[in-house]
Amino acid sequence: MTTMNRKPLVAGNWKMNGNKALVAEFINALNADDANGVDVVVCPPAIYLSALSAGRFAIGAQDVSALDQGAHTGDISVDMLSEVGCKYVIVGHSERREDHGETSDSVAEKAEKVVSAGLTPIVCVGEPLEVREAGDQAVQGFIREQLSALTSKLSASELNQSVIAYEPIWAIGTGKTASPEQAQDVHAFIRGELSETDAEVASGMRILYGGSVKPANAQELFSQPDVDGGLIGGASLKTDDFIAICQSAKI
Ligand code: PGA
Repeated sequence: MTTMNRKPLVAGNWKMNGNKALVAEFINALNADDANGVDVVVCPPAIYLSALSAGRFAIGAQDVSALDQGAHTGDISVDMLSEVGCKYVIVGHSERREDHGETSDSVAEKAEKVVSAGLTPIVCVGEPLEVREAGDQAVQGFIREQLSALTSKLSASELNQSVIAYEPIWAIGTGKTASPEQAQDVHAFIRGELSETDAEVASGMRILYGGSVKPANAQELFSQPDVDGGLIGGASLKTDDFIAICQSAKI
């Protein structure tokens, strides 16, 4: 687990799931839980953000526009997210890259927009199965490429306000989890890449693991030295599972 200066963070990503009943259930369950020592964030579909903001936990969006306002039907600006109480915004999730053609450059632009509004971007990186099967060098090359768009756009102080999530695509929603060693190896690699911008900033940045995290495997993953919490998909839809995962992140 995380060093003294990196407070664990667990973010639930509901994806396109949930309804008003789940919002109410989460507010009741999470407000009754003592998350002391862990930053807990729930990222529902944008339409439920306002309702979920009644909870005593942070809320985050699953995406944002890189633009400020205007004729962009269907998009949501960072100021709008900020106004309804968002503290975090997931950017560059592999499902957005896949479904909406987002590139590492457009993801970096979004991350910068989020930081400039005073919110925290959770920037997702991670390799597909064929890259994993090609070996560690291929994985590192793939992730280096995704990170370099970010590090060339964001200054050290902007990076300092950002969170990275390592989400191997082959582990997302598949029930296959990266082993704690695989996760640690990539997290250490990511921190090393970030340290080329600024070593001190890199050592303080939180790097989350995502991909089939469950109550049964969370503790082992979170106990790795460079794993500072998780980005949780499927298991974030069940209050008991999500709370158990948050508990596993306590130092
Ligand atoms: P999963 O999703 O936990 O369902 O694998 C993680 C994510 O995509 O953020």
